[in-house]
Amino acid sequence: MNIQMVDVKRQYLKYKKEIDDAVLKVLESGQFINGPDVHKLAEEMQHYLGVKHAIPCASGTDALQLALMALNIGPGDEVITTPFTFVATAETIAILGANPVYVDIDEKTYNIDPGLIQKAITKKTKAIIPVHLYGQSADMDPIMQIANQHKIPVIEDAAQAVGEKYRGKPVCSLGLVGCISFFPSKNLGAYGDAGMVVTSDDKIAEKIRMIANHGSKVRYYHELLGVNSRLDTLQAVILRIKLRHLDEWNKKRREIAQYYSEKLKNSAVTPPYIANYAQHIFHQYTLLVNEGRDEFQKYLNEKRIPNAIHYPIPLHLQDAFKKHSRYKKGDFPKSESAAARVISLPMHPDLTREELDYIIEMIHSFFKN
Ligand SMILES: Cc1ncc(COP(=O)(O)O)c(C=O)c1O
Repeated sequence: MNIQMVDVKRQYLKYKKEIDDAVLKVLESGQFINGPDVHKLAEEMQHYLGVKHAIPCASGTDALQLALMALNIGPGDEVITTPFTFVATAETIAILGANPVYVDIDEKTYNIDPGLIQKAITKKTKAIIPVHLYGQSADMDPIMQIANQHKIPVIEDAAQAVGEKYRGKPVCSLGLVGCISFFPSKNLGAYGDAGMVVTSDDKIAEKIRMIANHGSKVRYYHELLGVNSRLDTLQAVILRIKLRHLDEWNKKRREIAQYYSEKLKNSAVTPPYIANYAQHIFHQYTLLVNEGRDEFQKYLNEKRIPNAIHYPIPLHLQDAFKKHSRYKKGDFPKSESAAARVISLPMHPDLTREELDYIIEMIHSFFKN
């Protein structure tokens, strides 16, 4: 059995003809950057997410940086986020000279605990970045309530959650800005790096568009300092084809998660929790292992069951942030505890019943011994 964590090849082969034809057309057109399909993708994403503007860019990391730059976030500013996320969430804050201010997670959902945000707000707070981790929406109502009360903009990091809904509304449409990653292993993945910023605010949209294009609206006239962050037309045609299948794939992910959870519910591992306000599109299927996570991982590797730790070290303890960090071990106990106990299993819409049953059987047999 050749089980993959995310089977990008199996998915490509299913849509090969359509994708190959579309890619070939772009090669023949010679319009490699910002071609017509880039604009069509933006329109389709606006429609899909119910937002006014979608600005394609080069990666999910860039999407976050563009959003922060458009809000003029820089040295001395503070941005509140979770320490239990991929590095890009806080890296983009720090790279602009601002300070990530962490708030611990809710232990069931692994997302930022809204009840702890108020205490972290200071005069220097310039934004809040909730992350919809593993494909499950953060609890947005209380987050927006605190943010609105203090007039602090909210940037949703939806890198792992395109198509996820919070109380029936698409994530990315709830805060001021939403940031998306189309990294190949994401639930809507390109065939290289790609990303998108979305917003319904006209002014912010215009500014992000300019910053992503060297601070320019008119060629060779630069009003702002910007960056080069555009989307290849090749990635846009691939994403347009895939977007048509996204809801069906997210549904499949949920069904697979349900199957895993049902079969693992009486075992030594804790299946993921689904909050009543979320749908959970299961970008990752992540278990909690109370004891012996490392031995369990070794065993899965021996059985050729791909797995991953998302994430082994919370950001407040990462070396990269140490120089400026005010944090130490023990500051965010729930994030630290999750980092020591979580493990993700293979998750993609093309996992077969045979593969799932093998994974489940192997897990049961590990904990029986
Ligand atoms: C939560 C989160 N934020 C941001 C990013 C950055 O996205 P990209 O890899 O497209 O730069 C990722 C991607 O891994 C992510 O998981």
